[in-house]
Amino acid sequence: MDSLAEPMSASCGAVAGKSSVGTGRAHGKVILLGEHAVVYGAPALAVPVPGLRVTASADGSSAERDTISFVLPPVADVVAVNQAEGGLPGLIARLRDRFGVPGTMWVDVRVACSIPLGRGLGASAAYARAVVLAVADLFGRRLDAEEVFELVQAAESVVHGRASGVDAHAVGSSVPILFSGGAVERLRIGFDGVVVIADSGVAGRTRDAVELLRGRFAREPLYQARFVDMVESETWASMGDLADGRAKEFGARLTTAHGLLREAGLSTDQIDDLVEVALRAGALGAKITGGGLGGCLIAVTDNAGTASTVARRLEEAGAVKTWRAPLRRVCRCWQLTRA
Ligand code: PMV
Repeated sequence: MDSLAEPMSASCGAVAGKSSVGTGRAHGKVILLGEHAVVYGAPALAVPVPGLRVTASADGSSAERDTISFVLPPVADVVAVNQAEGGLPGLIARLRDRFGVPGTMWVDVRVACSIPLGRGLGASAAYARAVVLAVADLFGRRLDAEEVFELVQAAESVVHGRASGVDAHAVGSSVPILFSGGAVERLRIGFDGVVVIADSGVAGRTRDAVELLRGRFAREPLYQARFVDMVESETWASMGDLADGRAKEFGARLTTAHGLLREAGLSTDQIDDLVEVALRAGALGAKITGGGLGGCLIAVTDNAGTASTVARRLEEAGAVKTWRAPLRRVCRCWQLTRA
């Protein structure tokens, strides 16, 4: 797990003191396959989105006060900010405990976040990860991957209600990942592709979506088994397609997964329409991503030219913004040494 994670803290190695500043970084992610089913033990595949970044700085030089406190960034959508910060009070308490922060010490944590909030792009997990790393850096402490994960995951559980852990891993990984059974490993990719990410412009509601599905599963246990089994088998099969370079087959599985999520009531009419637009524009497959009830969709292509066409058509059809994340071929020799 360590090898997948980006550096745990900035290099300044600051020690708590009047002029110390610690920094921490994280990035966004998209889930390729497996969202929601992953909460019930199925695997999930996720890809980092390096262009969407969070940077936190923790400054211990302020006047002494009675607690760690947060100075919040100026962000337009206050409601959404509150959502991203839902896990922060508990996180602050844990960081105080972990680093033995004196009750009299005041730490200002500033966060700059380019990940749109509430879009299934991992903003809340990336926000928590950047804060954890910044505070650790301020106190000159290196946390191992497991410690960072636990802290981020505890904050995520408050935000999501019941978080699988895939976001907490993906926002710190430099490569696409398979998350399964609580463990994470590098995803094998046998073709060079592009994931186009499109924001529908409507905030998703992960917590509500997780609750909605939980309610339906409680009423219809057979449906739970069918949904989780079908998503799980698409996810495992898609890993074979990815590893062996079967881009077309991989794309088709994404579109199948979209159908399962739509049938579960987690998509929206607008996102269903955008999925169709992406497919007509030449995408190999497309689906809603993340918690749903709004948020983003993804579309996969096997070349940059088609990715540009897909992104343009999605914007013409009403997507408020698009991004791209690379799916890069991993050389076979590396796969063999890891297998
Ligand atoms: O943060 P989101 O919207 O990408 O949702 C995460 C994916 C879920 O499977 C819906 C929840 C989870 O914790 O895995």
